Amino acid sequence: MKYAHIVGWGAYLPEKVLTNDDLARMVQTSDEWIFTRTGIRERRIAGEQETTATLAFEAAARAIQVADLHPSQIDLIIVATSTPEYVFPATASQVQDYLGAVRAGAFDLAAACSGFVYGLDMAAQAIATGSIHTAVVIGAETLSRVLDWEDRGTCILFGDGAGAVALKGSSVPGGLLSSTLRSDGSGADLLTLPAVYHNPVPMLGPEYLRNGHDKNTIAMNGRQVFRFASKVVADSIAVVVKKAGLEMEDIDLIVPHQANSRIVESAAKRLKLPKEKFFLNVHRAGNTSAASIPLALCDAIAADKLKPDDNVVFVGFGGGLTWAAAVVKWQVTPPEVSFVDREWRRARYIYARGRSRLRKFGRKIGARLLGSPIPDARLRDADKK
Ligand code: UT7
Repeated sequence: MKYAHIVGWGAYLPEKVLTNDDLARMVQTSDEWIFTRTGIRERRIAGEQETTATLAFEAAARAIQVADLHPSQIDLIIVATSTPEYVFPATASQVQDYLGAVRAGAFDLAAACSGFVYGLDMAAQAIATGSIHTAVVIGAETLSRVLDWEDRGTCILFGDGAGAVALKGSSVPGGLLSSTLRSDGSGADLLTLPAVYHNPVPMLGPEYLRNGHDKNTIAMNGRQVFRFASKVVADSIAVVVKKAGLEMEDIDLIVPHQANSRIVESAAKRLKLPKEKFFLNVHRAGNTSAASIPLALCDAIAADKLKPDDNVVFVGFGGGLTWAAAVVKWQVTPPEVSFVDREWRRARYIYARGRSRLRKFGRKIGARLLGSPIPDARLRDADKK
């Protein structure tokens, strides 16, 4: 039996900050309304040259640096995202190329804001069965590109960013102790982002479009999602703690999806836990969907909230509806990373980009010289005659 331990972590937030006051100049809202209703003060917005894949790469590169892994040691890359540039290629394949992770499999995972916990579970189970030894699980989003900037009910909530963890198999007991993955598709219409290539009418009906949701932007029934979230956060934490054979007192830290600090307060009340048990960074990053849990985890580590042997719970919820939770035994201390090591790794990624370009070029030349790989059937038939 192998245990899947988190051995590295990394976060990346774009530079550009959008404050509540900035938003108040764009839609009818105020810093006071946003902060008291959500706990958000500011969020980050991706630059023109940044994509979900570049954000994901930055977070993953940091995670494998902390884990002291060479890119060629990575067996699997999972990117949880609702904002890929393409349906295919997967964002994960772009990240694989940027990292030069030449032996890795890669795929994207769509479970909205629960995606990171789903990905963590998938990777950990693959490690536990021995099918792989190492994995990088990333949550990455550029939600600013799919927001209706005239809808004050949603545009004030979301932000861009990426967070990642590196996982490694070990015979030392610990790592992922338990998990639960759930979905209730009857609530699909409560939180939606239609795909560009597909008319959403068949699933959600004409009433959905009459409500103004006729664009490829996020639409949400905030009150209903709030009610659902407060319940499932508390319920799923209780489920995974029990599954891990632990009591609530054994839990040292809960890192929830960062949607709204009031959801966390309500879940804490249901579980009769002090709200200090929950780590929040929603004030500075907003709701970054699949990226929010690993981003908050990195901030929690930076704030010294985790030490070896602590039990930490991750809990996500969102579109689908989906929700998921996991208990992880924390067993690592942040290593010192030297300047030389950091620069050496950067150089390696420049080499990976060069190698990727060379492969592209090689493919082009090969196609010119060799022509079609399919034998021309007509010519063959003519030869026979
Ligand atoms: O990551 C996916 C999961 N997503 C979530 O968990 C989000 C869950 N929902 C929420 O966080 C909250 O429902 C919101 C923050 C989105 C909204 O808070 P609320 O307390 O549920 O507000 P509400 O929708 O009930 O609206 C209350 C009032 C309304 O005005 P009236 O009808 O009472 O006059 C809204 O029009 O607040 C108004 N309002 C705003 N006012 C100022 C809605 N948005 C804004 C705004 N600024 N940005």
